[in-house]
Amino acid sequence: LAGERIIVVSNREPYIHLKKEDRIEVNRPASGLVTAVEPVMRACSGTWIAHGSGSADRETVDRHDRVAVPPDHPEYRLRRIWLTTEEENGYYYGFANEGLWPLCHIAHVRPIFRTSDWQSYVAINQRFADAVVREADSDDPVVLVQDYHFALLPGMVRAALPKATIITFWHIPWPNPESFGICPWREELLRGMLGSTILGFHTPFHCKNFLETVDRYLETRIEHESSTISRRGNLTLVESYPISIQWPPAWEKNLPSVEQCRSEVRAALGLPVHHRIGIGVDRQDYTKGILERFRAVEKMLELHPELVGNFTLIQIAAPTRSALEDYQTFEAQVRNLAIRINQRFSRGNWQPICLKVEHHEPEQVNRYYRAADVCVVTSLHDGMNLVAKEFVAAREDERGVLVLSQFTGAAHELHESLIVNPYHIEQTADAIHRALTMPEEEQRERMHSMRMLVRDFNVYRWAGRMLLDAARIRQREKLAA
Ligand code: G6P
Repeated sequence: LAGERIIVVSNREPYIHLKKEDRIEVNRPASGLVTAVEPVMRACSGTWIAHGSGSADRETVDRHDRVAVPPDHPEYRLRRIWLTTEEENGYYYGFANEGLWPLCHIAHVRPIFRTSDWQSYVAINQRFADAVVREADSDDPVVLVQDYHFALLPGMVRAALPKATIITFWHIPWPNPESFGICPWREELLRGMLGSTILGFHTPFHCKNFLETVDRYLETRIEHESSTISRRGNLTLVESYPISIQWPPAWEKNLPSVEQCRSEVRAALGLPVHHRIGIGVDRQDYTKGILERFRAVEKMLELHPELVGNFTLIQIAAPTRSALEDYQTFEAQVRNLAIRINQRFSRGNWQPICLKVEHHEPEQVNRYYRAADVCVVTSLHDGMNLVAKEFVAAREDERGVLVLSQFTGAAHELHESLIVNPYHIEQTADAIHRALTMPEEEQRERMHSMRMLVRDFNVYRWAGRMLLDAARIRQREKLAA
């Protein structure tokens, strides 16, 4: 694929331009997808097509709606697609986030399927597909389609460009056929996805669920040995590619030492040097298990009163999808639970939960990772969860312990973390306590192995494996033509 310009399609853009009084500020969104795909795009160059969502996005583009990014040293082009509020409500908030998001995550939130949202989803998928066709400078471009916002787009691009190499990556879990089957447009979604040359998931389990879903609802030929599906002359390889992060991490050079981060973060919160700190970093989403995490902290303080006054959980909760009722309700539940637990245990100026509901840039988050004794990831269900890998990458001192939900893709790789069932509050409380009392030698051994894994299976390897598989398939197709 050397020399190929790559076209990436995702809903969320990697740089959001915002109006701030008399200037424009550039933000990096809280999105695992963006964290992973951006370094790949910087390395490959090409065009990234995404929804222009920032208040100053329109002011930054040329007449083709494109802007060169990263802003300080441009390496690729970002093409913005504009959506009206009505389109955003139907396609993004509605079908993608009230329908597909709860459909694919087992978090016991009931999906909502409105016909008007579906119609909007179809129309916007077509608009992005048209943009891909316009961006393509040959009849066989390489297109990387990201996530559940674009299940139909692969089929649409395939119809316009039959020779395109379309790699679709599904960043969230894929449920079993019964669960997926409640979607009124299940066949249409599956047919759209099967326009892909390669369809990637995080784990073999999600691939198996997908193959079984197709088997249940579509007339196709499935070759289990090669994990391929053929439908009307089109062949799709279904494969697992666990996503990861950049290594070495980009921010590494700019950050103060671990020791400095430890003391600065404690000083800023008015805490003594030896105070124990836990860190949680999430979008404020009901799949992330934030309430369960707070309850585990409460239980731990009940069981280990010596930690009262000596341990603080810093919870960074990035506001997300706040226009939706389920997210507003969840935000209030998180706030109220933190208040209740803080009232119960507070002593003087100290409170056990420090909840920071605001956007944080990656550099700030990394200071907290470095300052923490334990990082707590308690997702109720999660495709991969890159916070777990970011924490490991931040700990060049090889200290600190990761408590990790068994329902994340990351738990299939980071075996040296303390794996928990987040629904089991006592078990999670016990794991956090174990993390806080773990001997340094054991911390070092565990952290060392996890760091080696994240180093070797970094995001370039994730993209490299997919692109290599794509190159092989292209070569085979060329020889067969
Ligand atoms: C998950 C999804 C991404 C999405 C991110 C942030 O990681 O898989 O596609 O970008 O959440 O959510 P948002 O709706 O703000 O883009």
